[in-house]
Amino acid sequence: MSASSHTDVGARAGDVACDVRLTSVDVWLVDLTDDAISEPLVVHMLDPEERRCAAARAGAGRRRYVAAHAALRMILGSILEVDAASVRFRRTCGRCGAQDHGRPWVAEAAPLDFSIGHSGDRAIVAVSDGVQVGADIEAVRPRVHLQRLARRVLDPTDHAEWSALSGERALASFLEAWTAKEAYLKATGEGITRRLSGVPRAATPGWSLARPETGGGYVAAVVARSEGLRIRYRLPVVATGERGAP
Ligand SMILES: CC(C)(COP(=O)(O)OP(=O)(O)OC[C@H]1O[C@@H](n2cnc3c(N)ncnc32)[C@H](O)[C@@H]1OP(=O)(O)O)[C@@H](O)C(=O)NCCC(=O)NCCS
Ligand SMILES: [Zn+2]
Repeated sequence: MSASSHTDVGARAGDVACDVRLTSVDVWLVDLTDDAISEPLVVHMLDPEERRCAAARAGAGRRRYVAAHAALRMILGSILEVDAASVRFRRTCGRCGAQDHGRPWVAEAAPLDFSIGHSGDRAIVAVSDGVQVGADIEAVRPRVHLQRLARRVLDPTDHAEWSALSGERALASFLEAWTAKEAYLKATGEGITRRLSGVPRAATPGWSLARPETGGGYVAAVVARSEGLRIRYRLPVVATGERGAP
């Protein structure tokens, strides 16, 4: 698979030798309006549970769900070297332990962890070599009750700083915090089951945070249980698509 394992990087800061462990996480930014993953072409790839979830949604929501899950299957299938339709998922809820909801995993025993998020016409998929990973993306569009949301989501110190911002800067700053926190909760598998104000919005000891470029109009975050994180962009990506795999 493409995600590399830990890399020891010996660096020198002054006379002090530093040892930074970098984890590579592969990231796909998917345009959900791409004809190649349109519903009629790809719906056959989905399993009965995914089809049930798709059918519960209407119109654009259903098309985006189908496209996102097809893209996820195509990505995981290429890594596992199986057909997209053959990828099997299992779920475990980090809160109640149930197997019918919560964090998805690939059922095959593989040194692989993944996370997916979608918003508007975009999805983000992050894949690691087994290091816990979480990813989130949010469209930059005005949110009603932004002030109220920020009070609930940000801790008091962050909220005091955030309150000095206004307009687009306030919205972008809030979405940066939100995506980081959701990415953490996806990486741990907790989901939104506790107060978001207590969830970090930046790297913490043992955890790294990266901000994938989205091509504009979206804010994204990837969090991994690792001391250092390197994002490797994979095709297809939004915008001009000039940033492919090395
Ligand atoms: C997981 C969660 C943060 C996703 O946020 P969202 O804004 O709704 O949706 P996103 O597009 O960002 O992410 C959705 C993806 O997260 C993943 N996901 C769902 N639950 C997850 C969990 N516990 N941990 C990690 N990832 C999870 C799924 O792959 C999902 O994709 P799908 O909806 O296409 O199947 C949110 O829905 C949540 O917290 N749900 C769980 C609530 C819960 O656990 N309640 C207690 C039940 S006992
Ligand atoms: Zn549960």
